[in-house]
Amino acid sequence: MTELKRTKVVDVLKRSDYGSEVCVKGWVRTMRDSKNVAFIALNDGSVIHNVQIVVDPLTIGENILNRIHTGASLSVTGTLIESQGSGQSVELSAKEVIVLGEANPDFYPLQPKRHSLEFLREKGHLRMRTNLFGAIFRIRHAMAFAIHEFFNNKGFKYWHSPIITGSDAEGAGEMFQVTTLDLNNPPRTEDGEIDYSKDFFGKMTNMTVSGQLEGELAALALGEIYTFGPTFRAENSNTSRHLAEFWMIEPEMAFYDIHDNMDLAEEMLQYLVKYALDNCKDDLLFLEKRLLEEEKQKPQNERSPMPLIEKLEFVLNNKFERLTYTQAIEVLKDSKPAKNNKFEFPVEWGIDLQSEHERYLVEKHFKKPVILTDYPRDIKAFYMKQNDDGKTVRAMDVLFPGIGEIIGGSQREESYEKLKKRIDEMGIPEEEMWWFLDTRKFGTVPHSGYGLGFERMMLFVTGMGNIRDVIPFPRTPKNAEF
Ligand code: 4AD
Ligand code: MG
Repeated sequence: MTELKRTKVVDVLKRSDYGSEVCVKGWVRTMRDSKNVAFIALNDGSVIHNVQIVVDPLTIGENILNRIHTGASLSVTGTLIESQGSGQSVELSAKEVIVLGEANPDFYPLQPKRHSLEFLREKGHLRMRTNLFGAIFRIRHAMAFAIHEFFNNKGFKYWHSPIITGSDAEGAGEMFQVTTLDLNNPPRTEDGEIDYSKDFFGKMTNMTVSGQLEGELAALALGEIYTFGPTFRAENSNTSRHLAEFWMIEPEMAFYDIHDNMDLAEEMLQYLVKYALDNCKDDLLFLEKRLLEEEKQKPQNERSPMPLIEKLEFVLNNKFERLTYTQAIEVLKDSKPAKNNKFEFPVEWGIDLQSEHERYLVEKHFKKPVILTDYPRDIKAFYMKQNDDGKTVRAMDVLFPGIGEIIGGSQREESYEKLKKRIDEMGIPEEEMWWFLDTRKFGTVPHSGYGLGFERMMLFVTGMGNIRDVIPFPRTPKNAEF
């Protein structure tokens, strides 16, 4: 047989030139064997759907068929035929089947059935072979691409902030240290402290918690930039919304005030949702169907009010509600759960809003995405622009249904004096920050920016409930397998 060039399953399924010969390659999802005919569902990751291969055991040979099980990889050459069953319109009648790699059914961890997400996390090296994770990771790619497209269309420059830094941008002290010192026997100074001048960089360094500070330097030169890179936080919070390693998108713009900042955030989020609806429909439909089946298992009051696609369209078609933190506190204090003592964390001006508060505002009160601004300065980072009231800063958080905070950002303090004072007040060492302060000394301008947690966005778009399931290899406390 002449070597045919491989056609991807996504392209085969679009064809209707029955009688043509094609070659497909992929992994066996299921294999149904009967005496006279076998059916193989083959998937190559290009699309959620499988191509059905119809195999006549006499043509292909029992010795080959016996080697084909779920998970095996095949190269199949055959003739396109009109599908007899429902589902796809085209299938392949096999002329030649080559087993590229066997998957011994006694040991292959994935069965042709639904596995729990927890089980699949333990098989993290293979879970992308399932329909579910195929869908999630195709969408993840599409979202990453759409982010670059959105900012490129607007003339923003993609900016690479360093991954190893000497600073704690958020001032929360949640850094992973980077060192080449011998931990069993570190060099010491005269007073017994670890001598970091002997460390690789000649100082203490850590993995970045945010690319913002270096992004600000770029915005004050290139005008509008965005970062999109890995971010690391050693917060010991084992929740369904936190990762120790996650990806963040951080646009930073000169000459933007907080209103421009909010407009950009809203436009970006809607662009991403629209991109998913326009380009990931098959995967979204699969996820929606799966979610609806799951919802049926839940008690009525815990069910999500909207199917996935409707929820995405809803965000696309509604303006986000904008209000200040102070107004939000009023709403929360007036709420039923506050009056009935149903919030775990009591509501008081000055508190850091908990996920239960954020979700009440979004899901119960306004019933749409919410942007909160002007938070108490004591619960926000040092770089935020201080309001004249002496109490609040020009922060903005975007809150999403089912997620809570998806974006955190602010207008930045552009006054050298005010910023310097705040840094001193918060006890941030100036030798860490001199270069950041310098931007306020030379040609400072009003500017703003925000950070979108990529995996939180993925949670929203896929409807998945746990952030570990929207990143290929989750890093969480006590877990860095694969
Ligand atoms: O609100 P955060 O901490 O803001 C910053 O880091 C700013 N420097 C951003 C900026 O203004 N340029 O984080 C921003 C977003 C959060 O809203 C959340 O979506 C996500 O990053 N995020 C996390 N995602 C997953 N796991 C974690 N541990 C996260 N911490 C923050
Ligand atoms: Mg935040």
